[in-house]
Amino acid sequence: MDGVPKPGRILVSSEAIDRRLGELGARITADYRERNPLLLVGILRGAFVVLSDLIRRLEIPCEVDFMEVSSYGTGTSSSGVVRILKDLEEDITGRHVLIVEDIIDTGLTLSYLKRSLLARNPASLEIFALLSKPSRRRVEIEVKYLGFEVPDEFVVGYGIDYAGYHRNLPDIHALLDSP
Ligand code: IMP
Ligand code: MG
Repeated sequence: MDGVPKPGRILVSSEAIDRRLGELGARITADYRERNPLLLVGILRGAFVVLSDLIRRLEIPCEVDFMEVSSYGTGTSSSGVVRILKDLEEDITGRHVLIVEDIIDTGLTLSYLKRSLLARNPASLEIFALLSKPSRRRVEIEVKYLGFEVPDEFVVGYGIDYAGYHRNLPDIHALLDSP
């Protein structure tokens, strides 16, 4: 890991994540009690950790699929260009779909994804995001289930990476501590 910045201070602890997923899991369970199975669509790769914890908080029939889209490459600023690297295996026509994303920054990735999935005519489509940086938003996007707002700092941990590293940290950290 030569040249990879060390993680800085903790912004969201694993205990806080666990509590929040309990609350959101209960809300999602109630909201989909009459509309299931629910298809959770995890956005690779960052969302795989939160998806695996969230799904165990749901007490309704649910299924899982994944998509991978390009976002930042190895840098820390959005290119604004979204490309589908891996598409869904499932046909989502007529199904109840919940997109599960790790973090919303500019909103460009999710607004593109939402448009692209709505065009396939799901019965319903909502968004879950663990983190949001509201001060960075460039397009409006409605997030029905949001874990936490974080300040405009690059974050890592709990599935979220910098250049592929730090996904394994149990807590969410700022990548760099301000001097
Ligand atoms: P957006 O299109 O600008 O909203 O960017 C969303 C995507 O960028 C997320 O799915 C993340 O993969 C990545 N991203 C945004 N902010 C961060 C961060 O602070 N750390 C790591 N990845 C991030
Ligand atoms: Mg992502």
